[in-house]
Amino acid sequence: ITIYVPRDSTALALGADDVTKAIMVEAVRRGVDLRIVRNGSRGMFWLEPMVEVDTPDGRTAYGPVSKEDVTVLFDADFIHGGTHSLSLGLTEEIAYLKKQERLTFARVGITDPVSLDDYLAHEGYAGLQRALGMTADGIVQEVLDSALRGRGGAAFPTGIKWKTVLGAQAAQKYVVCNADEGDSGTFSDRMVMEDDPFMLIEGMTIAGIAVGATHGYIYVRSEYPHAIAALNEAIENAGKAGYLGPNILGSGKTFQLEVRKGAGSYVCGEETALLESLEGKRGIVRAKPPLPAIEGLFGKPTVINNVISLATVPLIMARGAAFYKDYGMGRSRGTLPLQLAGNIKYGGLVEKAFGVSLRELLIDFGGGTANGRAIRAVQVGGPLGAYLPESQFDTPLDYEAFAAIGAALGHGGIVVFDDRVDMAKQARYAMEFCAVESCGKCTPCRIGSTRGVEAVDQIIANQNRPQQIHLLRDLCDLMLHGSLCAMGGMTPFPVLSALNHFPEDFGADTAQKA
Ligand code: NAI
Repeated sequence: ITIYVPRDSTALALGADDVTKAIMVEAVRRGVDLRIVRNGSRGMFWLEPMVEVDTPDGRTAYGPVSKEDVTVLFDADFIHGGTHSLSLGLTEEIAYLKKQERLTFARVGITDPVSLDDYLAHEGYAGLQRALGMTADGIVQEVLDSALRGRGGAAFPTGIKWKTVLGAQAAQKYVVCNADEGDSGTFSDRMVMEDDPFMLIEGMTIAGIAVGATHGYIYVRSEYPHAIAALNEAIENAGKAGYLGPNILGSGKTFQLEVRKGAGSYVCGEETALLESLEGKRGIVRAKPPLPAIEGLFGKPTVINNVISLATVPLIMARGAAFYKDYGMGRSRGTLPLQLAGNIKYGGLVEKAFGVSLRELLIDFGGGTANGRAIRAVQVGGPLGAYLPESQFDTPLDYEAFAAIGAALGHGGIVVFDDRVDMAKQARYAMEFCAVESCGKCTPCRIGSTRGVEAVDQIIANQNRPQQIHLLRDLCDLMLHGSLCAMGGMTPFPVLSALNHFPEDFGADTAQKA
């Protein structure tokens, strides 16, 4: 009998370790022989800790399970799939999961994250095996053909980035994974690292072989201790089995991988600040050009990609570019792991092909707000993403469609606010966030954000509203066009969207667009 209890931090935060202990104690007491696998999370957070049991029909789920439920679950013979009020039926049949298109997250929640055998039994390393038989140009061409775009938020074609690094001449090149997932309401990178770390390791190895880099770094935010532990364990296991290190699988290729921990700075998720931090310096943004692809880590050509971008590569290599490209709409191909957060009934991870509407995500998957009130605004793409009003909920999730309404999909974080939200306060928060997190290198971001907080404060206090709104728009214009990176450059998105879509919160008559 095999029982699955997730080791993902969401489940841990909700008592998964206590549940595991209680199951073990109860099994011993009843003389039942069972094996507990600490799997990843399926991403249905309101059901965590979600316990699964292998049955002849497939895995059956129970949740949310607390340690107090365990005795009664045993009484109900859950270890043979018996029914109980916490029964959720066959896991794969739960509508929230069934309606998804899980490509990158196909294994997440199914396998033991740090078991190489489990990974290999679920299509793991099929991509690397294929890549080892290809030329560097061939691998890069496959990524280009898949139309994969950077999932960190900027949506730059991954294949073009790799091609630039492949073409750069240097004795040493690097692959860096940006795992400084700092956007509010996002957790897809974390889930990959905690729940399927070999997939990221495999993607980075393929990247190294493709561009001729022998060394890779994963820069993980310090707030993700479980991700760091899982990655280190998986790296060790992969190395012992010959999937990492010198002479990978007898191919003569070398790729070494190290995990580095950040120190809690949001701007260190900006790629050049991240590189500075990796080099042991203060995380201050570098001017671009030169691009990291030409002069990156320690001045060498560097592939720097987000976790999801790299984690998607093994599947593309294993199944072929055409398979991946077949999903999606327009120039947004494949799938995006969306993260439903904030005031939402069914928060969690939803991987869907591009083209799904915000309304489908919020209502069909999310079930509306957790407290049943009306949704007033949704912030998409992190703290620097735009706030969308209900009239824009039918926008398809597509990079270009979002850009057309002055919004950004970013890293796929969706944070929901109900009808009690004060949008002027949200605008103030965006400016304050920028003021706190700015690296200070450029003036529009460093000074503009502080002046922005002051302007919003005056608007809220109803002092010189028309002039202050004019000033706020002026500051936004300056920050948008004059900042060195996306920190200052994107702060205007939440501010302007709040002003434009919710003028009544800024003193309606005066807030209209000039
Ligand atoms: P960017 O558009 O400047 O660059 C995108 C990427 O393409 C970079 O890696 C850049 O080096 C590379 N690139 C550009 N031209 C290239 C060329 N010709 N050859 C090779 N590589 C090339 O955008 P940036 O500043 O890197 O990212 C901004 C985005 O970050 C925002 O759109 C936002 O959504 C996202 N973001 C994500 C966060 C997260 O937690 N995941 C947090 C904050 C922002």
